[in-house]
Amino acid sequence: MFHVVTASGDRCEDERQLLESLEAMLESSHGDLMTRYASLANAAALLGHWFDDINWVGFYLRRPHSDDLVLGPFSGKPACSEIRAGKGVCGAALSSAQLQLVVDVAQFKGHIACDSASRSELVAPVLVDGQVVAVLDIDSPTIGRFTDADADFAMRIVATVAAYW
Ligand code: SME
Repeated sequence: MFHVVTASGDRCEDERQLLESLEAMLESSHGDLMTRYASLANAAALLGHWFDDINWVGFYLRRPHSDDLVLGPFSGKPACSEIRAGKGVCGAALSSAQLQLVVDVAQFKGHIACDSASRSELVAPVLVDGQVVAVLDIDSPTIGRFTDADADFAMRIVATVAAYW
C-alpha cells in the first residue's frame, strides 16, 4: 500500500517524501485513461492529506483538441465540471500555461467560486511537450494561504505528474 505522508516539521524532507509517494502512485499507471485517472485520484487524496488549511485540491484535465478543462480526480466538495480557457483561475492557467497564485480570490476578476469557502488559490499547469494537459488546483479558506515556497512546490508536483503522463 502507498505510504500517506504526514508532516514532520522539516519542510524539505516532507516535500521530498511527498514527491516520492506521488511517483510511486503515478508509475503504477499504464498510460491508459482509466489507470491515469486512478493514479490521479490517489494523488489528489495524498495532496488533500498533506497540505494544511486547504478546502479543495484536485485536477482539471484538458479535453483533447479543445480549450476546455474537465473536472478530474479531486478531494473536496463537488465542483464545476467544465471550465473554458481564460475563465477563472484555472482557465487563466490553461491560457497562459503559467502558475497562478491568487492571494485573495475576491480580487481576481472572473474567479469561479465552486466552493464558497475558498479565499485563496494556487493553480499550476501540467505541461507535456509544451502543452497544458491538465491543471492542479488548490484552494484554501484563508486569504494569503499560499507562499512562493508553495508555488515552487506546486511546480515540482506538476512536473512529477507530467513525467508520468
Ligand atoms: N476557482 C476555480 C474553479 C475551480 S474550483 O476552485 C474547484 C477557478 O476560478 O478557476
